[in-house]
Amino acid sequence: MRLTWSLALLLCSSTMSGAIEPISTGIAMGIAAAVTGFLARYQNVLYYFQECCRPEWMSYNKTGLEEDLRTKLFGQHVAARVILKAVTGFMNNKNPRKPLVLSLHGWTGTGKNYVSQLIAESIYCKGMTSGFVHLFTATAHFPHEMHLELYKSQLQQWIKGNVTNCPRSMFIFDEMDKMHPGLIDSIKPYLDFYDNLDGVSYRQAIFIFLSNAGGENIVQVALDFWTAGREREEIELKHLETALSLSVFNNKNSGFWHTSLIDKNLVDFFVPFLPLEYKHVVQCGLAEMAAKGLTPDEEVVDRMARDLSFFPKEERVFSRQGCKIISSRLDFYI
Ligand SMILES: *[C@@H]1O[C@H](CO)[C@@H](O)[C@H](O)[C@H]1NC(C)=O
Ligand SMILES: *[C@@H]1O[C@H](CO)[C@@H](O)[C@H](O)[C@H]1NC(C)=O
Repeated sequence: MRLTWSLALLLCSSTMSGAIEPISTGIAMGIAAAVTGFLARYQNVLYYFQECCRPEWMSYNKTGLEEDLRTKLFGQHVAARVILKAVTGFMNNKNPRKPLVLSLHGWTGTGKNYVSQLIAESIYCKGMTSGFVHLFTATAHFPHEMHLELYKSQLQQWIKGNVTNCPRSMFIFDEMDKMHPGLIDSIKPYLDFYDNLDGVSYRQAIFIFLSNAGGENIVQVALDFWTAGREREEIELKHLETALSLSVFNNKNSGFWHTSLIDKNLVDFFVPFLPLEYKHVVQCGLAEMAAKGLTPDEEVVDRMARDLSFFPKEERVFSRQGCKIISSRLDFYI
């Protein structure tokens, strides 16, 4: 077992020669011969043990993402379409000119975190638990403004170090609107159209920003459609783009927008998440029951959904919390 692990490690490291230097040449050659023979036959077994920056551990599954977006994400026809197109276009491009940068917007509980998880699962065998997927939450990882300079250099080192190890790395930044503008500025160079920075190319990397910024405007568009008696499915990206960009430039409170991310076109896609309706919350509840290993029970989920808060007050169209608290709420009703 131990041998297997070290072999796997050797295999994963890009600098094989460095790794065997301390061993005397005779032994090294003996091992090398054995390893070569072994590898030739059992390569796949070795890759199985240790996650590597290799296609065995990361290859894009478009069918998988398409199916996940269709069956596991509820009420987000616009976001689903944009995400599939953006990720597929990027992953199929052998020579992208810059890393993929997605900015996901909407109220909490509408599925932004969930979609990042689905994207990770469509690329990395280990999904969110992959060593090549990095999640940063503003309030957890960078809570104190007085440590800004430390955070900056740390974050830059992390991005550089991880992309050096594996060009196909993914970085997810949650609560982007709570992140200090200076910190966002410090990662800007990595998002840009550079061939390389200090010998490292970032063009295979994926950056996903999650924020509530623009959420109010998206809700307003959805509400306008509903008031006008139009179908939710008639809402297209173009209806939301204006709402989003206006809020983007007007909202003085969200640090994100102080920076020149937008000016410089560093964000490839702004992805809007619509507020969820009653029926979507029920869908989430049923899926959640199934995930808990229970038989989905419409009556139970209905009882739970009715107790949630919706707006406008009278008509109760859109859920305030979306699907966020469903998992914990459901336990009270089962
Ligand atoms: C891609 O995803 C589909 C649907 O989940 C699955 O059936 C298929 O086996 C996956 N393909 C690969 C190569 O993993
Ligand atoms: C990669 O990122 C993680 C944070 O997700 C960090 O702890 C680690 O040190 C980074 N690795 C390198 C080589 O910089």
